[in-house]
Amino acid sequence: MNFLDSELVLGELRRMGFVPSNDRDAADLVVFNTCSVREHAEQKVNSRLGELRAIKAGRPDLIIAVLGCQAEREGKSLLSRFPHVDILCGPGQLHRLGELVDSVVAGRRRQVALCGGLRGRRTVQADDPIESLDGSREYGPGQSPLQAYVRVQRGCDKFCTYCVVPSVRGRERSRPPANILAEVRKLADAGCREICLLGQTVSSYRYADSVGASVGLADLLEQVCRIDGLLRVRFVTSYPGGFDERILHVMAAEPKVCPYLHIPAQSGSDAMLRAMRRQYTADDYYRLIDRIRQIVPGVSLASDFIVGFPGETDADFAATAEMVRRVRFKNCFVFKYSPRPGTVAARRLADDVPESVKRQRNNELLAIQAAVSAGANAQLIGQSVNILVEGYSKLDQSRPDGQGARQLTGRSAADQIVVFDLPADVHEGSLVGRMADVRITASTPYTLMGELVEWPAESQSGERLALRYKSLTNRP
Ligand code: 5AD
Ligand code: SF4
Repeated sequence: MNFLDSELVLGELRRMGFVPSNDRDAADLVVFNTCSVREHAEQKVNSRLGELRAIKAGRPDLIIAVLGCQAEREGKSLLSRFPHVDILCGPGQLHRLGELVDSVVAGRRRQVALCGGLRGRRTVQADDPIESLDGSREYGPGQSPLQAYVRVQRGCDKFCTYCVVPSVRGRERSRPPANILAEVRKLADAGCREICLLGQTVSSYRYADSVGASVGLADLLEQVCRIDGLLRVRFVTSYPGGFDERILHVMAAEPKVCPYLHIPAQSGSDAMLRAMRRQYTADDYYRLIDRIRQIVPGVSLASDFIVGFPGETDADFAATAEMVRRVRFKNCFVFKYSPRPGTVAARRLADDVPESVKRQRNNELLAIQAAVSAGANAQLIGQSVNILVEGYSKLDQSRPDGQGARQLTGRSAADQIVVFDLPADVHEGSLVGRMADVRITASTPYTLMGELVEWPAESQSGERLALRYKSLTNRP
C-alpha cells in the first residue's frame, strides 16, 4: 500500500514540476513516506530526519515532508521532536500534498493534514476528493509499468490487537468499482499487463451503490478480467475469516486470475489467535485451506506469522511451526512482535517474550519454510513453467555490460521467480512484457532457474517494449 502511495505522490510531484533526484543533499524537497507497522521502520525514519537537521540549518529553503502512517500516528509530537519538518500528511490526506507544498513555498510555514484516527465516513462516492489521487495516474502509450498496484480498499475494520493500521488508515472503505475499472483500463491501455488489486483485507471488498446494488471482490475480479490487454490479475491481502468462496470459483474459472493467495494466518495457536483478536481458530484456517485447494487445485499460498506475541509459549510456537509444515505455503513472511503505541496489545499485554527467543523462533520458522520451499521447487525441475517476462535479473545488472549471457527474470502465475539466460539470437524486446515457457533446470528455496523453450515471435511492438524496459530499469 505504501509502495503505491509513494508512486502516486511521485506522479503528483512530477506534475507540479519536481524532478526526482538521487542527491538528497541537493534536493529542494525531501519526502518520507513512512510505515508504522513495526517500530524498526519508524526508527529508520527518525534517524534520517535527524541527519537532515544540519542540512536544513544550512539551507532554510529546503522543504521536508513526512507522509503516511508515522505522520498520522505521531501527529504534532513529531513536529516538536523535529522542528525542521515542514509538512505532516497522513495516509488519508495524500491527495492534498500538492496544496501543502504550494503553501510552504508561498511562505506559510508548517502544513499539517491528518485524518484524526477513526473519524470519517464509511462510504466513498465516485467524486470524493480522496479518489482524486488514485485517479490521477497518467501514462502515455507504452509508458505504464508492466505491473501495477490498484487500490480497491482503504483502511481496515478488523482491529487485530497488535496492529496500528485501523488507527492510522481509518475504517474500511471500499472504492467505487467504476473508478477502479477506469484506473485499470487506463493502465492496460498504456501497456500494463499485470494488475494487483490492493486492500488490507481485500477478500472483504464490497461496494454498495446508492440504489443498493452490491459488488463484491468476486464480481470486481470478473469485471477487471474483461479489460483488454491485461494478462494477469492478482489481489492481496486476503483475510481468513468470512472468506467468500465465490472468489475461489472466479479464480478457478478465469484464466487471468492468478492461482495465488496471500492469506496471513499470524499464528497456529488458538490462544494466540484469540489474544490477537483474529476472528478464526487454527482449525477454521485449516478447513479454509482445504476448501481453497479443493476449488483451485495447485493454488499457491503465502502467509504472514508473528512470533513472540505476548504470552506465546513453546507449545503455542510449536502449533505455528506445525501449521507451516502442514500447509506447505509457497512462502511465509515472519515478523517478531513489536508493541505499537495505542494498540490494545501494547496497552494490556506485557511484551514478555525475550528478544532472543523471538529471534530464535523467527529463524526456526524461516528454516522450516525454506525446507518446504526447497522441496516444492526441486519437484519442478524438468517441468515447463509459464511466466510473464519482467526484465533483466538483478544478477545480470551486476555483470559488466556485454559479458556473458544476459539473464532475464519473470514470474509464474503462482508468484515464483524464474530466471533464465537470454538466447543469443533472441532480442529482449520481444520477450519483456510477454508470456514465455521456461523449462526448469535448477532451483533454490526462493528462485527457479531454467531455459527458454517457447516465446512469442518477434512482433511489431518489440522495439517499443525494449524502449520501455530501458526506461524502467535505467539501463543505458
Ligand atoms: N508486530 C509485528 N508484526 C506485525 N504485523 C502487523 N502488526 C505487527 C506488530 N505490531 C505483521 C502482520 C501483518 C504484516 C503486514 O505485519 O503479520 O500481516
Ligand atoms: Fe492489521 Fe488485522 Fe487489519 Fe491486517 S486485518 S491490517 S493485521 S488490523
